Amino acid sequence: MAGRILIIGACGQIGTELTLKLREIHGNDQVIASDIREGAKELMESGPFETLNATDEPHIRKIIQDYEVKEVYLMAAMLSATAEKAPMKAWDLNMDSLFHILNIAKEGIIEKVFWPSSIAVFGPTTPKDDTPQTTIMEPTTVYGISKQTGERWCEYYFNKFGVDVRSIRYPGIISYRTLPGGGTTDYAIEIFHEALKNSSYTSFLAEDAALPMMYMDDAIKATVDIMEAPAEKIKVRSSYNLAAMSFTPEILASEIKKHINGFKISYDPDFRQEIAESWPSSIDDTTAREDWGWKHEFNLDKLTTTMLEGVGKSLKTQD
Ligand SMILES: NC(=O)c1ccc[n+]([C@@H]2O[C@H](COP(=O)([O-])OP(=O)(O)OC[C@H]3O[C@@H](n4cnc5c(N)ncnc54)[C@H](O)[C@@H]3O)[C@@H](O)[C@H]2O)c1
Repeated sequence: MAGRILIIGACGQIGTELTLKLREIHGNDQVIASDIREGAKELMESGPFETLNATDEPHIRKIIQDYEVKEVYLMAAMLSATAEKAPMKAWDLNMDSLFHILNIAKEGIIEKVFWPSSIAVFGPTTPKDDTPQTTIMEPTTVYGISKQTGERWCEYYFNKFGVDVRSIRYPGIISYRTLPGGGTTDYAIEIFHEALKNSSYTSFLAEDAALPMMYMDDAIKATVDIMEAPAEKIKVRSSYNLAAMSFTPEILASEIKKHINGFKISYDPDFRQEIAESWPSSIDDTTAREDWGWKHEFNLDKLTTTMLEGVGKSLKTQD
């Protein structure tokens, strides 16, 4: 590959694992991690790291120039639950950072951009089950509005300026290596930690709140696959629907009970329940499967055993 890769927001839940995967594929020196804070030891020690604010355009340009970067993954964002508490800050971060990268790509300085969207682009008027690729989108959260707007701008920059920007609407991403960053689906991670520590969990979503979810390895695979696909295969330049599984807190709890005898779940829904109610229950991702061959590997059973093992090990090392 000609030129290096820059990951902005590399220390987050997805950025950490994405950086490590890209370093494995392209070589440690080829992948520059950046964030406003330092991250996991493995990430910090395995390759170059730069402290970088995603809204600081001159600094982004300098790093791109210094390292001869040709591909940018923009993972920095304020997520759904946190954004509701700081709407303007979320809007500024989520939009400014995207414009900086799209404009640098428009100038031909970088060749390819990955920018993640989310199921939050949908809203209460969207068909809830098997939500199609193209459908009604009237998001009611600050985060959803920023992601939907971002999608429109990505498509615009592709159509008008030929910017090779690629995007996926991630569902709730579940993993154990890094803690989640303030999203509505975070319960599906917390539950494993509490199940192993206390054999009980109080969910901030209601028992029947069905949401689309995905294990981290599948999300990383999708990200790598869409970026490696030939440009002509990427026909959707806003963002692709992506799915693996869908479940409620009640279904996840009963799956955990198969492994932890006596695990108890209770429900105390908070403001995040309202966000969850505005999102789809399940996603139709046929277009991604047909266009660039997307295929998931993790179902609920595999996710549960992998999470229990992974969280279990990390709790032991903390002791
Ligand atoms: N995790 C999910 O379930 C999920 C679902 C849908 C979409 N997404 C999207 O994927 C992307 C990554 O999500 P994540 O879960 O890893 O988020 P996260 O909150 O875990 O990580 C975001 C990272 O961005 C960094 N950051 C924040 N402000 C910054 C700034 N001004 N400059 C530079 N870095 C900054 C944070 O320090 C953090 O390390 C985001 O765009 C998010 O909207 C995530």
